[in-house]
Amino acid sequence: MKKICVVGTGYVGLITAACFADLGNRVIGLDINEKKIEGLKNGVMPIYEPGLKELVDRNMNAGRLSFTTSYTEALKDSQFVFIAVGTPSGVDGEADLRYVAAAARSVAQNMQGELIIINKSTVPVGTGDWVAGIVAEHQAEAIPFSVVSCPEFLREGAAIGDFMNPHRVILGSLDEEAADKVAQLHLPLRAPIVVTDLRTAEMIKYASNAFLATKISFINEIANICEDLGADVTEVAAGMGYDQRIGAQFLQAGIGYGGSCFPKDVKALAHMAEEKGRHPQLLHSVMEINDDRREMAVQRVKDMLEKESLEGITVGLLGLTFKPNTDDMRESPAVNIAQGLQAAGATVRAYDPIAMEEAAQMLPNVKMLPTPYQMAEGCDVLMVNTAWNEFRQLDLRQIRDTMKQPLLFDGRNIYDPEKMAALGFKYRGVGRGYNGRIEK
Ligand code: UGA
Repeated sequence: MKKICVVGTGYVGLITAACFADLGNRVIGLDINEKKIEGLKNGVMPIYEPGLKELVDRNMNAGRLSFTTSYTEALKDSQFVFIAVGTPSGVDGEADLRYVAAAARSVAQNMQGELIIINKSTVPVGTGDWVAGIVAEHQAEAIPFSVVSCPEFLREGAAIGDFMNPHRVILGSLDEEAADKVAQLHLPLRAPIVVTDLRTAEMIKYASNAFLATKISFINEIANICEDLGADVTEVAAGMGYDQRIGAQFLQAGIGYGGSCFPKDVKALAHMAEEKGRHPQLLHSVMEINDDRREMAVQRVKDMLEKESLEGITVGLLGLTFKPNTDDMRESPAVNIAQGLQAAGATVRAYDPIAMEEAAQMLPNVKMLPTPYQMAEGCDVLMVNTAWNEFRQLDLRQIRDTMKQPLLFDGRNIYDPEKMAALGFKYRGVGRGYNGRIEK
């Protein structure tokens, strides 16, 4: 049984710890946040992720997973330490590495035997070498160690499945033996393992996220053109997706990407390029298109109401998180959209299945209602921000009858325009013209 320490019990750290424990390793999760660790010891999850609590409970009960705030305890007998701490955006879009540096220092000061330090946090290219420097500098006595980059490719809401069935495992290190040992840990996942150097591994992570963000901005640009020309972007995407060189995923037009990864990583990659004197045009366009989606959404509500000022108008938001199956509100388009609607004079109310408590802190003037039906009552227009499954099952007749006007802007294209029209809604999606019918 291998002993693994995971530093950081945020999204990536906690999933990594629980999943490696489930693969039969002995894992200790470390965090400097005592409240979080106390909660975890008592079975309280700091995040909402389907299946996570069951996985943590099962492995804690089996004695394979434990939590601590003590580096000495966590590193005792550990052969591997995963660094999975946050790398928020700094002022200029660069990744803020203070938590990575602090973790590297603490590992150096508390390591008791030979160690492989594996970086899971998304860090600028070159950080692995920098971490190795910090560790060497802060060791009390020279103990051998290696640094391996192993970027994570988990999606929130599907993280456990993504960990257990990865498309690939990327390992970067100049120490082949260390990379091989980390590869062994991943063998039960039966995924292709790509071993490369540190910087290339770090770059693969940024390039992957930037490419996925590019697909989203691409289809959003196509959606705009579809609207002008009377074509349906959902069918365009489906038709394109059959081409294996293109692929069907990440071609859903809507109000754009949010979350803790794409906005931060595209910005950080652009920043790295600029620091080297480049002008990363494509990355800037991807970000610009994505920012414009939020303005487009506010404008669409105005267009549907045929009003520039939204004074006296009540808008109801269905969904607040950046995507379904998560409680994460970071960079959620819904936040800017709610603020934009309020700035135009609207009264905004909202319903989200999971995130209303957190959202209320970010949007203090938005009234949160306990059910979508109560939320819709008396609204002039409803807007879908998040494609939660429960919105697909709503009794839309009931909703229509209690609204002031039956207007619905579907920012995630979850409803069928024909059916919505048949139900008596004035409905608009994104990029959903049809045979010349202009969607504006
Ligand atoms: C993303 C990547 O998908 C993961 O592979 C990566 O590991 C992770 O970032 C990370 O770097 O940690 P995540 O942020 O959880 O995962 O969410 P996604 O499912 O990728 O969605 C991101 C955003 O794009 C959401 O706001 C979603 O609504 C939007 N999106 C996604 C679209 O607007 N259209 C699409 O077709 C797909």
